[in-house]
Amino acid sequence: MNHLIAPSILAADFGNLQRDLEMLDKSDADWVHVDIMDGMFVPNISFGFPVMSAARKYTSKPFDVHLMIVDPDRYLKAFKDAGADRITVHYEACPHLHRTIQAIKELGCKAGVALNPHTPVMLLQDIIEDLDLVLIMSVNPGFGGQKFIDNTYKKLKDLKEMSMKKNPGLMIEVDGGVDQHNITKLVDAGANVFVAGSAVFSSANPPATISNLKYPEKLLQS
Ligand code: DX5
Ligand code: ZN
Repeated sequence: MNHLIAPSILAADFGNLQRDLEMLDKSDADWVHVDIMDGMFVPNISFGFPVMSAARKYTSKPFDVHLMIVDPDRYLKAFKDAGADRITVHYEACPHLHRTIQAIKELGCKAGVALNPHTPVMLLQDIIEDLDLVLIMSVNPGFGGQKFIDNTYKKLKDLKEMSMKKNPGLMIEVDGGVDQHNITKLVDAGANVFVAGSAVFSSANPPATISNLKYPEKLLQS
């Protein structure tokens, strides 16, 4: 399977969100990554249900919702109702992770777990078989435009190894500082879904950047 690209609308122009979503809809993007921040789990607040529901009208691409919030169980149904197709919660925010994952699945959504940069992959040993996706944070969550943390490559290799043994269909997503320079190395390390915020929206030609991330081999050939 070719890898997937999930541009993050955190880096979009919120004054022109409809325009940016329509651009994503026509682009080679596979999913739309929706970053929800509560000012508690992370030191920043992004946006909530009304913005997400409004955004839902302008693209048919799946919403990959990344919840950077404490006690996400309170809001799972509300995120589903606002248009989530996939919901990823943070390991560090869920004391009853197994229950939370089952609740996401019961809503009919795909379920993911995100790990902060300091959280070892090993801690997923007893939950990995229940997951559709694991998101490896390659920056500390809270802000777009940060520098990629190199230890991510090792974590991806560890996760890939564990998934080959216990859940070969697991999707492995990387989030933070992904761009055209590191994507090929990240694919080689085992990742197959890539979030990109500033790399896409700060570029001169966002749809072309998305295509370059989706098909990096074409760039190498040209
Ligand atoms: C960070 C978010 C990311 C962010 C990525 O907390 O989870 O999804 O939007 O932004 P870039 O690609 O700019 O690092
Ligand atoms: Zn994210």
